[in-house]
Amino acid sequence: MPQAVAEKKLDLAPVARIVAARAPFTEGDAISALQDMQDAYGYLPRQALDELARLTGIPVAKLYGVATFYGQFFLQPHGKHTVRLCRGTACHVRSAPKILSAVSRHLGVGDGQTTEDMVFSLETVACLGTCFLSPVMLVDSQYFGQLTPDRAVKVLETIRGAGRPEGG
Ligand code: FES
Repeated sequence: MPQAVAEKKLDLAPVARIVAARAPFTEGDAISALQDMQDAYGYLPRQALDELARLTGIPVAKLYGVATFYGQFFLQPHGKHTVRLCRGTACHVRSAPKILSAVSRHLGVGDGQTTEDMVFSLETVACLGTCFLSPVMLVDSQYFGQLTPDRAVKVLETIRGAGRPEGG
C-alpha cells in the first residue's frame, strides 16, 4: 500500500510518467491516469492534479469534477482501511448515531477524517444498500450488520490488531 506523501515534498515525476505512458493524452485517459496517480500517492494530492492539468491542458476544475464524481478517488490522505457507517433512515432508527459516536470516540476522528496512524478513514454514507442488515458498517468491502456500538468497536480493534475481522 503506497504511503501518502506530504504535499510540500511531493515528487511530481510519477505524474509525468503517467502522462507520457498515454501519449497523446486525451480527456478519455483522465480516469485511468487518476487511478494510477492514486496508486502512486495513496490519494490525489492537489499538486499532482495541478501538474496533470499543466501537462495535459485539461482544466484542473474538470479533473476535480472527475475525481469527485467517482467514489474511488480520495482528495485527502487516506487510511489503509475505509470505514463507512450508514446514516440512512433504516440504520438511524436502529441506533446508527450511537454507533457513529462510539466509533468516532474509539478512533479519535470524525466523519471524513483519517486516524493519525493512517490505519482508518471514517466516512458516513446515506445508505449502504443493505438495509435488512441495519444498522450496518462497511469496512473496505466487508459488511458488518445488526451492529451495536460495542460490536462495531470490537470489529475495528480486531482489524487493527490482526487484520482479519470475523465476518458479520
Ligand atoms: S439505511 Fe442503512 S443500509 Fe440502508
